[in-house]
Amino acid sequence: MLYSPIQFRNVELKNRWVMSPMCMYSCENGVANDFHFVHYGSRAQGGTGLIIVEATGVEPRGRITNHCMGIWNDEQAAKLKKIVDFVHQNSESKIGIQLAHSGRKGSTWNNIQISLEEGWETLAPSPIPYHPTERIPHVLTVEEIKKQVQNFKEAAKRAVKAGFDVIEIHGAHGYLVHQFLSPLSNIRTDEYGGSFENRTRFLLEIVDAVNKELNENVALFVRISGTEYAENGWDIEESVALAKILKSHNVDLIDVSSGGNIHGAKISVFEGYQVPFASEVKNKAEVKTGAVGLITKIEHAEEILQKGDADLVLVAREILRNPYIAVQGSFEMHEESFFPHQYLRAKISS
Ligand SMILES: Cc1cc2nc3c(=O)[nH]c(=O)nc-3n(C[C@H](O)[C@H](O)[C@H](O)COP(=O)(O)O)c2cc1C
Repeated sequence: MLYSPIQFRNVELKNRWVMSPMCMYSCENGVANDFHFVHYGSRAQGGTGLIIVEATGVEPRGRITNHCMGIWNDEQAAKLKKIVDFVHQNSESKIGIQLAHSGRKGSTWNNIQISLEEGWETLAPSPIPYHPTERIPHVLTVEEIKKQVQNFKEAAKRAVKAGFDVIEIHGAHGYLVHQFLSPLSNIRTDEYGGSFENRTRFLLEIVDAVNKELNENVALFVRISGTEYAENGWDIEESVALAKILKSHNVDLIDVSSGGNIHGAKISVFEGYQVPFASEVKNKAEVKTGAVGLITKIEHAEEILQKGDADLVLVAREILRNPYIAVQGSFEMHEESFFPHQYLRAKISS
């Protein structure tokens, strides 16, 4: 199944290998550069079905560090377009972008909060820092929440103009959207906090606003944390309930990760440790899902699809080690896949 195509709206992926979004902390002023061009371009040469560009801030304070990528201005979008054009002109890969806001987890370097002078005042649904030693984040007013929804919408508009095939909203790993979803980081008493309906409102408003900028040639994915591994926190039941609603709001795939919102949460990490969450969301909410997390072997990726646990397999660290995993897998499985025509002499090994 790894080499069977799959379609989201009019976007057809040639295979099920996805490069998971990964921050590279290598931008100045949020602008992609030659590093990113080669980094993403080589995964296209490697035959990856879908490349998802790293978490990209919808406004300057939405970055995690000063060196994260951004898409709040046209200069940033123009540099991204160069990458998108290369991928489309030189491969069969599709390319997406993850739109993100860091919220209370912004203004850091090497996972440590930096000063207000070097960084910025962070934002959150409630005055609760991620770590007790960090500054209390600014609590967003309702008007400011609406402005953040608008930021996602404008970012999506730029991404569509740049030619991306998929937009992924980052609702996982304890960043702003996840901070709203979780009753442990969101203790608001207005329409954005309290009940499940209120905590999911921010994400649904973003989804609706972003969808207004999309068309049948651009698919919409949402990444969530299936659980945050904390008592009374966001869990798999709420994830399934949310996935059903997201499907009805025209979201094409739920990319199921986990954790990231609760400092010190105990996580048992093993090969494919998050696959059961993707499976539960897929089978109970009847939505397409992506599985991610310590999937490093070609046979394991195939098995996840065969078992019906997910529709796509996202690889992060393994595709940093091996940009050619999709091509390599096709050799091992005797499947046809994209091979750069310039490299054809290497296709037959003998
Ligand atoms: C260097 C690095 C940067 C990451 N940045 C992001 C990111 O921008 N957005 C995101 O959703 N996850 C991010 N992640 C998490 C990965 O996408 C992935 O979910 C995680 O690494 C587990 O997959 P793996 O075991 O294949 O590495 C990052 C991971 C790494 C290693």
